[in-house]
Amino acid sequence: MNDVVLTGDRPTGPLHLGHYFGSLANRVKLQDEHPMYVLVADYQVITDRDLPGEIQRNITGLLLDYLAVGIDPDKATIFQHSAIPELNQLLVPFLSLVSVAELGRNPTVKDEIAHSSQQAVSGLMFTYPVHQAADILFCKGTLVPVGKDQLPHVEVTRLVARRFNERYGEVFPLPEAMMGERPLLRGLDGGKMSKSRGNAIALSAGEAETAALIRKARTDADRLITYDETRRPEVANLLTLAGLCLGREPRDLAEEIGYGGAAALKSLVTEAVNDFLRPIRARRAELTESDARRILAEGNERAREQAIKTLQEVRTAMGF
Ligand code: TRP
Repeated sequence: MNDVVLTGDRPTGPLHLGHYFGSLANRVKLQDEHPMYVLVADYQVITDRDLPGEIQRNITGLLLDYLAVGIDPDKATIFQHSAIPELNQLLVPFLSLVSVAELGRNPTVKDEIAHSSQQAVSGLMFTYPVHQAADILFCKGTLVPVGKDQLPHVEVTRLVARRFNERYGEVFPLPEAMMGERPLLRGLDGGKMSKSRGNAIALSAGEAETAALIRKARTDADRLITYDETRRPEVANLLTLAGLCLGREPRDLAEEIGYGGAAALKSLVTEAVNDFLRPIRARRAELTESDARRILAEGNERAREQAIKTLQEVRTAMGF
């Protein structure tokens, strides 16, 4: 198969274990099988907030997270929006291919607007899925490993590609989303895992910080530990987390803990997570910020060559 993989993240803060099991582990595998692009989606940061914030720090942090988990810059091209003008230029013709009504129907965008703390909804909020189509199509990406919330954006990308091909001739392949089969990992309070909610274990967290977070995790008073997603979601989530780190079944772990209660459960989870993160932390400690910046600059250069080629094809097809 000659698939091209493209995926990416907004540089808004450190990646956590939810990212790892939800997508990073899969990327580390995919980079051996396909050409892969990993996007630091820096221009997308300003879709749901007014200012990019500590953008350089977050970009460097994201690079270190990628490298620490084993994304290999010799195999994968890691790059950023803001370094690739030709990618961004694709947005102009692409925007002409979708209607305002279609943009307004995107369920992920609707949800983000509903949860936004911004005073006003910007034009970028409605159009960033088309920008995301440019992310995927500039490198003729065909496989997009993403979570469920990103499926509408992959649909927009397919729509853009299909309409472009219909109007101007065959230029783009139609990409497919690739969904992970891993169980959903919740935060330590049972809600959606998110750094801003303080319920996530960052990949860059130290051993003591990790232990403290797990100590505070919500459980219940039943001493007999069982795996019951509906009645005991917080306990089940901790068992899932330990299971992912150990490569074992959560139910088997529950049986081993038996009447040990929350204390035994938490000490098992802490050890499992810290053992799991140890090699990732060690790799991170070997890297400097200047390594991260150099690797990004090299990836940007490669991605830009590809973007220049695609933009030229697009302009030719359109008769510009
Ligand atoms: N929207 C994605 C997120 O919030 C990040 C992203 C930007 C992306 N461009 C992409 C993901 C292209 C996949 C493909 O996580």
